[in-house]
Amino acid sequence: MHATSSFLIVANRLPVDRTIGPDGEASWRRSPGGLVTAIAPVMQRRDGAWLGWHGAPDEELKPFDHEGMHLIPIPLSSTEVELYYEGFSNATLWPLYHDVVAKPIYSRVLWDAYRAVNDRFARAAADAAAPGAVVWVQDYQLQLVPAMLRKLRPDLKIGFFLHIPFPPEELFLQLPWRREILEGLLGADLVGFQRPGGTSNFIRLVRRLLGQPNTRHEIHVDGRIVRTEAFPISVDFASMDQLVRKPSVIQRAREIRAELGDPVHVFLGVDRLDYTKGIGQRLKAFGELLSEGSLAPGEAVFVQIATPSRERVEEYRLLRDEIELQVGRINGEHGSLGQPPICYLHQSYSQEELAALYLAADVMVVTPLRDGMNLVAKEYVACRPDLRGALVLSEFAGAADELRQAYMVNPYDVEGLKRAMLAAARATPDELARRMRSMRRRVATYNVDRWANDFLSALEG
Ligand code: ADP
Ligand code: G6P
Repeated sequence: MHATSSFLIVANRLPVDRTIGPDGEASWRRSPGGLVTAIAPVMQRRDGAWLGWHGAPDEELKPFDHEGMHLIPIPLSSTEVELYYEGFSNATLWPLYHDVVAKPIYSRVLWDAYRAVNDRFARAAADAAAPGAVVWVQDYQLQLVPAMLRKLRPDLKIGFFLHIPFPPEELFLQLPWRREILEGLLGADLVGFQRPGGTSNFIRLVRRLLGQPNTRHEIHVDGRIVRTEAFPISVDFASMDQLVRKPSVIQRAREIRAELGDPVHVFLGVDRLDYTKGIGQRLKAFGELLSEGSLAPGEAVFVQIATPSRERVEEYRLLRDEIELQVGRINGEHGSLGQPPICYLHQSYSQEELAALYLAADVMVVTPLRDGMNLVAKEYVACRPDLRGALVLSEFAGAADELRQAYMVNPYDVEGLKRAMLAAARATPDELARRMRSMRRRVATYNVDRWANDFLSALEG
């Protein structure tokens, strides 16, 4: 396809997953998640296309259509998966941008691969974009694309959104390629972050490293103005709210509680198995509550859903071993036959099953050490039209800016975490309803549609 799309999304991944049916036939299924839901209608309206990797190495696929979206697969070799995706994206940038909670790897070989793959994405976007098209580049894997694309196609309107935190100066300055990354981002007309803090970190770094004149939201670069602003991403509130009112989901939530032995308190964690999520901290707090007798086994169950993620990256492998050891210890110490206090599941689930889990949980425990937004927290709120259920939320998640009526915690403070988990479990129905009503108002208004529209209006305005 050449130069026909007036609206392009450029992301590391395509918005579809390949599934193999019972007959062995492969087919594509739209990936779950708000980003796709929000952007799909915009793409249909504007003759849009989505460029991204389809998830398998060493495979070249032709562009294809799926549910009204035109998809352009970008191939990655297995070496590029190792060096660009697992390497620079997820062993260098991911830990650096998340407060260095794991040690970033700085390697020139990884950087070279990152640059080469960003260049491939930029060329493919330049080929696919119609004259004057709007191109929206997503996330940390593609920070060089805006400048590379501008060089090839100065006629385009280019937006960039970072889904993860943008780190403070002290941390970002570690990066040997810090100038190149900033210059890459400055190729965009609009650079969006999750929180205002990301915007001010970016502005400060641009001034310090590149000396570009700026105001609080504008940077002057080569006679152009680059704007920067915070756009907190959200979830598809209405569709989750509807899903969770379905009798089959309500019934499933009841079954889940029964399968857990009808405990008084069901605690829930839902995360990719990632070291930024603070899974170990929350399990430690739960284990101590059992040891001290504040919660009795049988009275409380903790369900931890930990989706497999980036399993070939060393830090993720280590984390899995650590968490599974911790779960085993707590269950070994406090469980009885058929009644482990922690139900740990290293699996992916359908949206219906996740919705039923949210509905079944009395206390949702979201304790990242650092997180751009954390959509799970907002999904939980969207899934509680009954106004029951409490949210324990880390102050280090972007969602903490908006969900102020959550039980707020510093996940590094185990005592504080224990207090918040107990307070949440013991809150009165009135207290829960008061908090939940106000959080739902926020998520209903600032839903993912609003996020996409705000960003695109700012880009095109
Ligand atoms: P991150 O983007 O770092 O993974 P978020 O909380 O922002 O964290 O988004 C995670 C998304 O993945 C949510 O939409 C959540 O519903 C989904 N998700 C998490 N765990 C699972 C799972 N086990 N099965 C299916 N979807 C999951
Ligand atoms: C975070 C990142 C996304 C990424 C997702 C899943 O949400 O911000 O860019 O796609 O995690 O990670 P994966 O490595 O499987 O794409």
